[in-house]
Amino acid sequence: MKILVTGGTGYIGSHTCIELLNSRYEVIVVDNLSNSKIEVINKIKTITNKDFKFYEMDLRSEEELRNIFSKEKIDAVIHFAGLKAVGESVQKPLLYYQNNLDSTLTLCKVMNEFKVKKLVFSSSATVYGEQKVLPIKESASLSTTNPYGSTKLFIEYILDDLYKSDNEWSIIKLRYFNPVGAHESGLIGEDPNGIPNNLMPYVSKVAIGELPYLNVFGDDYDTKDGTGVRDYIHVVDLAKGHLKALEYIDKNNDCIAINLGTGTGYSVLDIVKTYEKVNNIKVPYKITKRRDGDIAECYADSTKAKELLNWSSELSLDDMVKSAYNFIIKNKE
Ligand code: NAD
Ligand code: UFG
Repeated sequence: MKILVTGGTGYIGSHTCIELLNSRYEVIVVDNLSNSKIEVINKIKTITNKDFKFYEMDLRSEEELRNIFSKEKIDAVIHFAGLKAVGESVQKPLLYYQNNLDSTLTLCKVMNEFKVKKLVFSSSATVYGEQKVLPIKESASLSTTNPYGSTKLFIEYILDDLYKSDNEWSIIKLRYFNPVGAHESGLIGEDPNGIPNNLMPYVSKVAIGELPYLNVFGDDYDTKDGTGVRDYIHVVDLAKGHLKALEYIDKNNDCIAINLGTGTGYSVLDIVKTYEKVNNIKVPYKITKRRDGDIAECYADSTKAKELLNWSSELSLDDMVKSAYNFIIKNKE
């Protein structure tokens, strides 16, 4: 099967390309490199020892996209491309709505023209807003608290409507929890520009001394140690979930949402302590006030992924923090 991977040089996309190539899928990558680097292409080739085509383009360029679909016989699409910084989306909502919605609409329009109707979409646990009942099932109520989250929810609605209008489509909306860690080679991983917003890349920068200490955002939540609890999932496990999703949409015409999480919640202090223990390194931290918009606790009910996709996570928190540290050590400037 030939798979078009949008956003394939990004963090999750690059790890998924590796799994696809290692499973003998053919891969075509489209990315405008707005949040990733061209070097990733050669790194994927080095890791897999396989070749594939890369098109540097904005997904919103309808003509260019049409050219790709007419040149390549694409069977299915995994759609990662999108902007993802929550804080920036609050500052620049139009940029987020334009980029994330327009690129998805253009993609679906061209897919429709070429009768390619199998799609795996990167959604997010952010569409659940704050839930009282945990673990979170896919049937939970949906709401968002920032423009980034709204783009994910609106795209889910667009895809639902598309399927209702034509059920030859087969669509899986994967709701990721908190992807962390890196490929065991240390060649690819999460490499945000500037000061990281997310916990794991921040902890890594503290571990190598690039930042002096971690700010722990609040220790007065109603959780086991007062710090925020999340469902951290190793990016390689997450990548493998996409292959299972492809197998499902190849056999079924459906439009479904599926959680990709481990089902286990860890607190901020669990992450710090595990990072220190596994990597034998100190991670200094200070407790500071809560971050606006944060929720206390969020973790997945991952039963549906097990039942429908035969997927569940395999890698542990130790594996996550070990690979995150290995990546930062190998990529210090
Ligand atoms: P990323 O920023 O590393 O990768 C996204 C890629 O899309 C980047 O390489 C970027 O250059 C590309 N891109 C953006 N807009 C584009 C456009 N218009 N045309 C072509 N390419 C474009 O992000 P990631 O962490 O790999 O996330 C992948 C997807 O998963 C995103 O849609 C994100 O919203 C979603 N997601 C991520 C997380 C997370 O914590 N990383 C959690 C939930 C959902
Ligand atoms: N945290 C800190 N200090 C930091 C960074 C984070 O204490 O410097 C805490 C947060 O308060 C939270 C936990 O670490 O309790 C995780 O925070 P992240 O920023 O790593 O992740 P979030 O759960 O806030 O959000 C992430 C993505 C969202 C996505 C969501 C669900 O950033 O885009 O997971 O998938 F929607």
